[in-house]
Amino acid sequence: MADKKIIAVVGATGAQGGGLARAILADPNGGFACRAVTRDPNKDKAKDLAVKGAEVVKADLDDVNSLKKAFAGAYGAYCVTNFWEHFSAEKEKAQAKNLAEAARAAGLQHVIWSTLEDTRKLMAANDTRMPMLQEKYRVPHFDAKDEANAYFSGLPVTYLVTSFYWDNLYTFGMGPKKGDDGVYSWAFPMGNKRLAGMAVEDIGKVAYGIFKAGPQYIGKTVGITGENLTIDQMSEKLSKGLDISVKYHAVEADAYRGFGFPGADELGNMFQVYRDFEKEVLGARSADVARSLNPSLQTFDQWLASNKNKISLM
Ligand SMILES: NC(=O)c1ccc[n+]([C@@H]2O[C@H](COP(=O)([O-])OP(=O)(O)OC[C@H]3O[C@@H](n4cnc5c(N)ncnc54)[C@H](OP(=O)(O)O)[C@@H]3O)[C@@H](O)[C@H]2O)c1
Repeated sequence: MADKKIIAVVGATGAQGGGLARAILADPNGGFACRAVTRDPNKDKAKDLAVKGAEVVKADLDDVNSLKKAFAGAYGAYCVTNFWEHFSAEKEKAQAKNLAEAARAAGLQHVIWSTLEDTRKLMAANDTRMPMLQEKYRVPHFDAKDEANAYFSGLPVTYLVTSFYWDNLYTFGMGPKKGDDGVYSWAFPMGNKRLAGMAVEDIGKVAYGIFKAGPQYIGKTVGITGENLTIDQMSEKLSKGLDISVKYHAVEADAYRGFGFPGADELGNMFQVYRDFEKEVLGARSADVARSLNPSLQTFDQWLASNKNKISLM
């Protein structure tokens, strides 16, 4: 343990960081040790990581001093913020700033910042196709992450541009719902454009690949996807894989924003960006790069085969 390079994994009890923690712990001879960062070391997911060999430390993204302690003595850190806990772009930026400050104070040798692109750069400021949200953002959880890139400037950082998790189908309630006629349906403002998606577990495995590869990724932006599929293609695969009939309704973005669930306006803007700027969004992400860093990168069919029991069909 003593001669291993410690990676402080923020979000280790969650989806992205959890994948990285599991990847480190599954490779005991890989030269890295996992320090799992959580607000609550007593929660089951934290205890489970401890049983599997992780050092578990307590820290809060809102408390920079706790992060400084959590990063002290580490070689690297995986930095991720969770917009969906508070829905605030400003808070997300403040948390990212704390992460960067703590990384600097600890003198880390490699930091991965889990980021997304600034969607405002894709359209003119006076473009009326979608509303501005939280005063100045198009897709706050994207735009804020890109703005936060600047905090990490000057650090030995890799900017990891992630993709839509297919796991949202069961964790975010985004899966198709059953109608009275027995047909399952789902609606997105995606037209016939492709969605860059991946198994969230693969994000952590890619991050592990980046830490292992080391210096060659410092200062680089790495955009990753598992597979780019239209919603019709995903519907076909779900129909076949789950032995049900799934129909896709391509709704307008305004209709989606009006669905009224928390975050509908934000996600309406996000899917509209995917639809209207397919070339730019897909161009910023590569499955080949992801596979070079994580040879077990899953396709949608592979992800579905191993997760179909988690998708609750309602
Ligand atoms: N869903 C998607 O398709 C998608 C795609 C790309 C990017 N993203 C981005 O992914 C991010 C969320 O990552 P995730 O899916 O891995 O999250 P998640 O599974 O919901 O887990 C959140 C993690 O963040 C930690 N955390 C949250 N607030 C914290 C705080 N104040 N201090 C310390 N730790 C904190 C939690 O740790 P404890 O609770 O143990 O403290 C937990 O481990 C979001 O910002 C989202 O925009 C999502």
